Amino acid sequence: MTNPNLADAPPVVVSQPHELRDVIALARHAGKRIGLVPTMGALHAGHLSLADASAAECGLTVVTIFVNPTQFGAGEDFDRYPRTLERDLELLAGHGVDVVFAPSRESIYRPGHATRVEVDRVSAEFEGRCRPGHFSGVATIVLKLLQLAAPDVAYFGQKDFQQCAVIRRMVEDLDVPGVVHMLPTVREPDGLAMSSRNAYLSPAERQQALGVIEALRSAAAMVAAGERAAEPIIRTMRERLRAAGLGPIDYAALVEPRELGPIQTVTGPTLALIATHAGLTRLIDNLLFGLHGEELDSAAIL
Ligand code: PAJ
Repeated sequence: MTNPNLADAPPVVVSQPHELRDVIALARHAGKRIGLVPTMGALHAGHLSLADASAAECGLTVVTIFVNPTQFGAGEDFDRYPRTLERDLELLAGHGVDVVFAPSRESIYRPGHATRVEVDRVSAEFEGRCRPGHFSGVATIVLKLLQLAAPDVAYFGQKDFQQCAVIRRMVEDLDVPGVVHMLPTVREPDGLAMSSRNAYLSPAERQQALGVIEALRSAAAMVAAGERAAEPIIRTMRERLRAAGLGPIDYAALVEPRELGPIQTVTGPTLALIATHAGLTRLIDNLLFGLHGEELDSAAIL
């Protein structure tokens, strides 16, 4: 880092789409590569890892903070989703973030808004089946953010593997400029995937939640031990979740990581996917591994 003072400068916070366009136009004019990190706030080390990657690779890093109403279903946690803007801004200090875009709902979904983006096939199963309309809401807001910021690179986390696959499909299909990078899931030391929703967990639920990564690791361990049939592996994952006191189980699945198609037999890189509940809190996580059960970096195979 050549100038620590510059890196420590607090980000400029803008709330209007036209302000975002203006700061980005200036940076682009100055020849800077633009990095975009879309978030819903309540930031944790997972989000910060995306900001760090962008700051390392781009001359201007924009983090967006917007709890997007259109990706929450009726009865989901939109109203109680943690909103911690002041703390988020403090957390971002020192991570090389230049601009934070924190718009109001009204400036994003203006009167008369009538467009939704639908990404077929890769949206259909798993989160798409459990949360109807969710990926349409995600695709719509992400496309809007990509249009506003026109980044060279947009950064997403493997924690939401299917979300990243949906966004990649959309970017490819709609000729959206720029590339999508998927970065590894950041975990607590005991393996729990970091998530803004972990704040909902009671101490007992926090302990139960470890069953998710245990179940995913048991799948990788079975493959490492030579198991190739998906069925007993999935059965074991479900048993692990139940043994930890987790449920109901929305899904526990093995898929090939490109199209997220189901597999009967493990023949190459495999993604294990889980969504379940600890009390009222929904938990999702995934693990990508190879034929020896070794964890794989998604960037290396996708
Ligand atoms: P949010 O849940 O805030 O996540 C923002 C980004 O951080 C996503 O790309 C997500 O995959 C990534 N992320 C979350 N937890 C992570 C972890 N433990 N390790 C690494 N990355 C992690 O995902 C959304 O917001 C929204 O759907 C959004 C894309 C912003 C559209 O509204």
